[in-house]
Amino acid sequence: MHLKTPNIDPEKINALRGHMIAGGLILILTLLRIFVRFKTASPNPVTTSNAFLDKVAALVHLLLNLLVLVMAGSGIALALGAELPDIVFGGSGQPLPMNFQDFPARAVHGIVSKLLIALILLHIAGAIYHQVILKDKLMKRMWFGKR
Ligand code: HEM
Repeated sequence: MHLKTPNIDPEKINALRGHMIAGGLILILTLLRIFVRFKTASPNPVTTSNAFLDKVAALVHLLLNLLVLVMAGSGIALALGAELPDIVFGGSGQPLPMNFQDFPARAVHGIVSKLLIALILLHIAGAIYHQVILKDKLMKRMWFGKR
């Protein structure tokens, strides 16, 4: 059962429950990650010896954090607008809206999800470029211990 299920299907509430819990968890973990990032020492920025690629990397990292926050924020705005907390968790018995397309937050949630997929692919491509082409052992810095 997934989010493509029509809203009149009784199983849709279960799909939404799982999705909202997972989305909320992602929000908490992302906020925690941003907090830890600023409160602990970070290794020096890595350079590719290409000023343009270095700028792209910095922008992608910023956008990845920002767009996950927008994703979760628009999900919560959509959920509140459609009274999902009462329906999905409160057992109000009220039906789901016919669909979510009438809610502006749904459009934001959908567009940002596509942008995030593109950014994640770009991020993976960047990591592979460092690891395989530049061979600068960038992945090693992601582990615990001295960096
Ligand atoms: C950052 C975490 C999240 C991610 C990655 C995410 C991802 C998605 C994706 C990919 C879709 C389908 C988009 C499409 O097909 O156009 C969607 C739909 C939806 N999401 Fe999220 N979501 C997140 C957080 C949340 C949160 C926190 C809530 C609510 C508390 C939420 C509520 C919804 C709802 C109500 C839909 C619409 C389902 C439908 O149209 O039938 N999402 N989400």
